[in-house]
Amino acid sequence: MQPVSTRFDPRVSGLSQRVKDLAEPQCVYFEKARDVRAEYLDGALHLYRHEDILAVNKHQDVLGNGGRGGSFGHDGRLIPLEIDGPDHKKWRRLLDPLFAPKRVQHLEDSIRRLAGELIGEAQKAGGAELYGDFCTLLPCQTFLGLVGAPLSDLGFFLEFKEGVIHPKGETTEEIDANMAAAGGKLLEYFNGFLADKRRRIDKDDDVIAELLRAEVGGEPLAEFDLINILFLLMFAGLDTVTASLSCLITWLGRHPEQRQALVDSPDLLMPAIEELMRFESPVPSGMRYAQRSIDLGDGLVIPEGEQINAFWAAANVDPTYHSDPLRVDFRRERTAHMTFASGVHRCLGSHLARLELRIALQELLIRAPQYEIDVDALTYDNIAVRAVTNLPVVLR
Ligand code: HEM
Repeated sequence: MQPVSTRFDPRVSGLSQRVKDLAEPQCVYFEKARDVRAEYLDGALHLYRHEDILAVNKHQDVLGNGGRGGSFGHDGRLIPLEIDGPDHKKWRRLLDPLFAPKRVQHLEDSIRRLAGELIGEAQKAGGAELYGDFCTLLPCQTFLGLVGAPLSDLGFFLEFKEGVIHPKGETTEEIDANMAAAGGKLLEYFNGFLADKRRRIDKDDDVIAELLRAEVGGEPLAEFDLINILFLLMFAGLDTVTASLSCLITWLGRHPEQRQALVDSPDLLMPAIEELMRFESPVPSGMRYAQRSIDLGDGLVIPEGEQINAFWAAANVDPTYHSDPLRVDFRRERTAHMTFASGVHRCLGSHLARLELRIALQELLIRAPQYEIDVDALTYDNIAVRAVTNLPVVLR
């Protein structure tokens, strides 16, 4: 294998383009993990197997996504995603408690209430396009409330996250320009918003108010650190749960027998969510950088300085790790998956995501267990984050 060192953008890579609108990209990822293990594509070393990615994620000589600077339309280094080493630990110590299980658990009632209302409205209308009317509104309204951003600006934040995660453009240059434009608007927004928020932080009990009150190393957070945290939170928190929920509702809609099993045995719901998150793998891959040469065994050596595309979605259907991985089995014995990555950069919001997914599906399965999806109208988008962006459903 020969290393190539141009900047890699997973959004325009050949593999992403090959699967971009497939209902089941898992078949392609499965073949990669089974037959290829690792290969250079478009200038990046792609890793497809669970054990290799696990080893890379915990290797001390591997940097996370931030090894080579801003890649989401923002010049600053996003905290904590684009930070490594002791600084990364310092930021996670500050952020982890804000999204810890106990901390998000108190949202249960309000999420359930909102889920009930949204499903009720859709039922009254006889059906809805659930990507917009449920999968977007439920987690995004919840997230804005949690972080302390105004609900009335939901439209602005959705436009921002679309611009940064799903930027328009055919080439890396066009994509970068569109992302930068979306990012610029968010910076402008926060300039005014934070100044105003600082005047009432004693009263507010939300993530932004806590960050404004917080100290790191005995000092309040610098404005640019705060921005580098919020920029990441606003797209990480607003896109991924929406996408995951759309994938899970669609899968259950296409598999009425398994859906009925969940209606009959509600205890199966949590294992089912984990299994479906393994199979659907909404964030397909992430970047890593080898600071030194890394020997993964059996002749696979990653050269120093290499950029690695760690394919979580392929590791999740890797037959050298998971038995019969293309089968969705709610009672699967080996349940470890890479959907939230692993190692130091594992997802900060996984507890919130799991809580929202559980409540959303519980409410849907209780209130509308026989929902019918219009299979011919489904639109899958597998670039950057997998979602079903058109999800018309009949609700009786
Ligand atoms: C089901 C929904 C979600 C999925 C599938 C998901 C997936 C991931 C993945 C794969 C990573 C690793 C990225 C990488 O290293 O390249 C990650 C990191 C991250 N996620 Fe999530 N995520 C989800 C929800 C959320 C939510 C709701 C938040 C909001 C708090 C969030 C915040 C973050 C942050 C801040 C990081 C960076 C962590 C670090 O670098 O230390 N995520 N997520």
